[in-house]
Amino acid sequence: MTTPARRALKGQQVRRELLPNQSPELLRALHLLTREGHLNADALRKLKQVNHLVGLLQPALEDVFARYEEPVLVDAGSGNAYLGFVLYELFFKPAGKGSVVSLEGRAELSARAAERAAALGFSRMAFQAAHIDSAAWPERVHVVTALHACDTATDDALVAAARANADHVAVVPCCQAEVAAQLKAHRAEVEGPVAELFSHPWHRREFGSHLTNVLRALALEACGYSVTVTELAGWEHSLKNELILGKKVRKDNPQARARLEGLLAATRARPKLVRVLFPGLGAAAP
Ligand SMILES: C[S@@+](CC[C@H](N)C(=O)[O-])C[C@H]1O[C@@H](n2cnc3c(N)ncnc32)[C@H](O)[C@@H]1O
Repeated sequence: MTTPARRALKGQQVRRELLPNQSPELLRALHLLTREGHLNADALRKLKQVNHLVGLLQPALEDVFARYEEPVLVDAGSGNAYLGFVLYELFFKPAGKGSVVSLEGRAELSARAAERAAALGFSRMAFQAAHIDSAAWPERVHVVTALHACDTATDDALVAAARANADHVAVVPCCQAEVAAQLKAHRAEVEGPVAELFSHPWHRREFGSHLTNVLRALALEACGYSVTVTELAGWEHSLKNELILGKKVRKDNPQARARLEGLLAATRARPKLVRVLFPGLGAAAP
């Protein structure tokens, strides 16, 4: 395991971490840079994560800016809204159009981010203190992101994206416990040697987490998305570094839905995303 750098970066070292057109002023306003303009280890880790994801989101953003008058991006489980601020500065501000909506369950984080946006004059950023599954989502959403939204919050973001027919969706899932519990409850019903994959609690947690993301990718495909799953290289400090990217390419995909149904039947798993988007599939599990 790599040990995070302990020393603060200064001067030229800080500049090397910035993306083209990324301003130190924004990072200072977000308290990622200290007043002296230094980057401490935690802030550096966060900045690297966000900037790396921004690079991977660039094609999706260029696509929606080219095709729409007012592209809308929703960042679900936004925390301090670092991702939204960086995207706004690099894409939405220079384009002079479009908006970023940050959804966050913790009201104090949402309020602080809203104050920062007002101070920065980022007028097309909006903040909602709400749960992802009960928030007032904009009628039309073009890009949905969810970075480390805990457990089933990632499912909530994917459900909202699919329902809104979002053109692009990008999630980096966080911890997930739901499917591991289902594997435990229904292990006796699973036929053949497949049950060996999750007979031990540790394996159930690991396999449950893997299976959850496999089912998420398949469910997105079934909703008409082309899906890419990659490791977020450069995220060596995070154990949660799987990126699921979806691009809406057709109305739906019955073949993918059949594959999803097969996997649900074989494992007896039924994550929230499936229960909400496909209530008839995998009905045996809770
Ligand atoms: C690990 S933090 C990640 C924050 C941010 N996306 C980032 O990467 O810096 C997860 C955030 O999601 C929020 N969250 C978790 N479940 C949520 C839900 N159902 N609705 C809204 N926010 C949620 C938490 O309050 C927390 O701020």
